[in-house]
Amino acid sequence: MSTLSNKRIIVGISGGIAAYKSAEIVRRLQDAGAEVRVVMSRGAEEFIRPLTLQALSGHPVHADLLDPEAEAGMGHIELARWADLLLIAPATADFIASMVHGRANSLLNAIYLATPAIVAVAPAMNQGMWSHPATSDNIQQLSQRQVKILGPDTGVQACGDIGPGRMQQPARLVEQVADCFATGKLSGKRLVITAGPTREAIDPVRYISNHSSGKMGYALAAAAAEAGAEVTLISGPVNLGPPDRCKLIPVVSAADMHNATIAACADADILIAAAAVADYRPVSVATQKIKKHADAVNLELEKNVDIVSAAASQFSDLYVVGFAAETQDVERYARDKLERKNLDAIVANDVSRSDVGFNSDNNEARWITATASKAFSIRSKTQLARDIVDAIAEQLGLQ
Ligand code: C5P
Repeated sequence: MSTLSNKRIIVGISGGIAAYKSAEIVRRLQDAGAEVRVVMSRGAEEFIRPLTLQALSGHPVHADLLDPEAEAGMGHIELARWADLLLIAPATADFIASMVHGRANSLLNAIYLATPAIVAVAPAMNQGMWSHPATSDNIQQLSQRQVKILGPDTGVQACGDIGPGRMQQPARLVEQVADCFATGKLSGKRLVITAGPTREAIDPVRYISNHSSGKMGYALAAAAAEAGAEVTLISGPVNLGPPDRCKLIPVVSAADMHNATIAACADADILIAAAAVADYRPVSVATQKIKKHADAVNLELEKNVDIVSAAASQFSDLYVVGFAAETQDVERYARDKLERKNLDAIVANDVSRSDVGFNSDNNEARWITATASKAFSIRSKTQLARDIVDAIAEQLGLQ
């Protein structure tokens, strides 16, 4: 898998002659698996038509900071949040200076200021401008702010000069962009995550289920995708939107979840079983709605397959993480589950508390393996999910 698959990249084009190469950059980033949006400065439009980039990227090109229509759709803050990486290519001397000063007078400048994404610049300018101490100082300052400086190249320039300042070739730039993500801890790993409750039908309108919200499993899916993994999320019925960048397989019953999980684990590296699977299901499902004539009804229940145990015993190379929701003696019961279910690790939490666990946005948990036990104090499920992903990467030596 390419390191750019699943990655969201904004290509910001400032106004220099090298802007004509941006079309090829967009195409090559897409070929490497990235999703690309283009933002142009007004100057850039003098060198390359927005329509070319719109056709290549398959999305409208953004240019105006104060465009009410664009702001109603994907405005500058949404764009800034959407991206994993902002690549400014070409980055002119003037644009680099405006970044140093934190100007916010154009859409591209505002996105640079607002984005939490990785920022990379591909300088492109005359050799004299590149060698000027003002530019050197500016580049140094950006570098200190962790902006990646890609290039420039040395050679014949558009003005006829020879020296450093040419923008790097698109193929090389795309390689360098991919290198910016090399730290994606789960890059290239295939993860299966089960989430949410299951519903066990009693009759066509009634079922047995539990209070699981699915929030922890969905947060894990997002964190794993963020770390570069290819994620399959097998989810029982929940009130959550489909997470970004994951393959979602919706299921209803434990039997459905079992089938989907075993099929997905056949070519996976890691399974995280965060689902609250119903332990029992009715032995027989009434084909018609059960009438309330009787004063009492006996429901005969049979045990569901333990999905995580089944996957752990069937796929010996799979790294398997389970969850243990306990109301007492958390660590002891969790360790027992770790061994009994043949898991590599278990995340244990106390569900008797109302401030964490089921349905809450926060959780407090303990990461337990055969040899280790680490507490995660109370934190958001989003943060806990990132910490669990880090713990898995550490166990697998993927730091
Ligand atoms: O046994 P218990 O339900 O407490 O175990 C919890 C762990 O086992 C969780 O990781 C849960 O997703 C998994 N599990 C499962 N299939 C079941 C029951 C639990 O995968 N039928």
